[in-house]
Amino acid sequence: HGTVGSGVYDVFAQNAAQIAKAVGEEVEVKYVLDLRDFSKLSYADKFVTDFSVIENDPEVCVVAEVMGGVGAAYEFTKRCLLAGKSVCTSNKELVAEKGLELTTLARRKGVNFLFEASVGGGIPILRPICQCLAANEISSVCGILNGTTNYILTEMIQMGKSFEQALREAQEKGYAEADPTADVEGLDAGRKICILADLCFGKNVPTSAITTEGITKITPADIEYARALGYKIKLLGRAIRTGPNSVTAFVAPHLISKANPIANVDGVMNGISVKGDAVGEAMFFGPGAGALPTASAVAADMIDCVRDPATRVYLGWWPSEEGYVTGPDKLSCRWMVRTGAPLERIASAFSGVRFISVPSAPPEEYAFITQYMTGEELSARTEGMQVLARYRVLD
Ligand code: HSE
Repeated sequence: HGTVGSGVYDVFAQNAAQIAKAVGEEVEVKYVLDLRDFSKLSYADKFVTDFSVIENDPEVCVVAEVMGGVGAAYEFTKRCLLAGKSVCTSNKELVAEKGLELTTLARRKGVNFLFEASVGGGIPILRPICQCLAANEISSVCGILNGTTNYILTEMIQMGKSFEQALREAQEKGYAEADPTADVEGLDAGRKICILADLCFGKNVPTSAITTEGITKITPADIEYARALGYKIKLLGRAIRTGPNSVTAFVAPHLISKANPIANVDGVMNGISVKGDAVGEAMFFGPGAGALPTASAVAADMIDCVRDPATRVYLGWWPSEEGYVTGPDKLSCRWMVRTGAPLERIASAFSGVRFISVPSAPPEEYAFITQYMTGEELSARTEGMQVLARYRVLD
């Protein structure tokens, strides 16, 4: 009964008539599991502290797991599936770490393990990928997958704030947690891109196999250089099919042209682009976090389970072999580099760079856009050079 859990309860209470229409009969929340005291709530009689009450009640056919983490959430999810109950979750850590096992178990037990809310909050994205885009060979998925960091970057870009100031204000507004590590270091977006890659490409992408870079090192100076050329800096999760049996998945800040719709996804919103060989590019935008938007997706999964209890075979993927996931350093792109190196050193290392001039730049500093090269090549060319920042440019 935390942020998302109380939202799920509210959606079922407020939209009971709409949900009954969708299902064909009334759907009732029978229990809420929480150890805390909610005795003042009008539905206090629904609260239980013993999970086995839910596990052993044959009338319960679907359970929302909205606890977070992979401790109790993992254990309870497994026990629900083993007891023949479908589980719907918003818990991206659980899905990214244990999704392969849990979807396989659900299938074996003939029940559903659904997790639309785990990526993009209230945005319909996983079902569209697995159903509406099922006829496509997907080549890439890319997007703003974390509302907290997008809010912080938006404040830095629009209001000229430093990272520290924008983070502090995000915490005061309740967007960022007291310990913001998972968001600002890109771990949350990393879990989400793993789930997207699992579903888009059909094989398991372990979180341990991807690289994640967050937003803590982005400075107002970087943002100014990007702005001078018509770009914004956004934190992107990207997964790209790089061969018949290989994918690259990673999280990193990128320069994106202001003409790209993803660059205009601001504040706590999320935006995701999926490229398929038949559809071309499909874009999905909306609220990526928050109690009711996330609950909207959890409740829809629950409605689906009640309406059609047969296993959702479309939501699942296969184990991957060693080497299936490759690092982003072999991807070729243009780069923005900010350096304190002298002009001659830059000229001897690079050809055809485009220098960026901003009035506020210190005289001994240069920023430029390179030609296409891999991260490995950029590292080799800048070896021994004082590199203050380097960002990929998204084409
Ligand atoms: N911390 C996450 C975000 C919550 O800011 O996007 C939603 O997954």
